[in-house]
Amino acid sequence: MPTRTKRKPAAIHPDLESVLYTEAQIKKRVRSIAQELKATYGDGEFTIVSLINGAIMFTADLMREIDNPVRLDCIRISSYGEKTKSVGTPQVVASLTLDILNRHVLIVDDILDTGKTLQLVAGLVRKLNPASLRSCVLLDKVGRREVDFEADFVGFKIPDKFVIGYGLDFAERYRNLPCIGVLNPARAK
Ligand code: IMP
Ligand code: MG
Repeated sequence: MPTRTKRKPAAIHPDLESVLYTEAQIKKRVRSIAQELKATYGDGEFTIVSLINGAIMFTADLMREIDNPVRLDCIRISSYGEKTKSVGTPQVVASLTLDILNRHVLIVDDILDTGKTLQLVAGLVRKLNPASLRSCVLLDKVGRREVDFEADFVGFKIPDKFVIGYGLDFAERYRNLPCIGVLNPARAK
């Protein structure tokens, strides 16, 4: 029988300035967000619209904490390029495929920053006449909002720092880090 060895705590990644949330802290919060969703949706079915790639880890973990019947659709929005600040207007790169009419829709994203991305997606979904529309983000950079958009469910409120890990990238890297940390500014060049 193979013995299960306990994983050693990972040394801080050299490209991180600091760790904001450890893997364990994220897991705990994701579990409690699932309970908040339960309190809202009861046992009813809802349709998750996940913004890939960023929300991929959060969506996968959140879904596994939910025992409701859920449907999953993904939407891809371009917004950042290789910068650490939003540039221009987000665009839909790949759109939805599931029917949304009269469905309870929950938009899931990794992080709410200026709000432009979620405002765009919410507008798009709303046009498809869902039964209800809510949004859930793991991170919320409060004080960065440029448009009037707030999420219904928020994991953690964070300061205005560029963060990576747990799905969040800088130039498509670091999505695989199990924790969420602040990118070392020297790496953001
Ligand atoms: P918004 O349109 O400015 O709200 O930007 C939202 C999108 O920008 C998110 O879906 C993320 O993909 C990306 N983003 C915003 N802040 C960060 C960050 O600190 N690290 C990585 N990606 C971010
Ligand atoms: Mg994103």
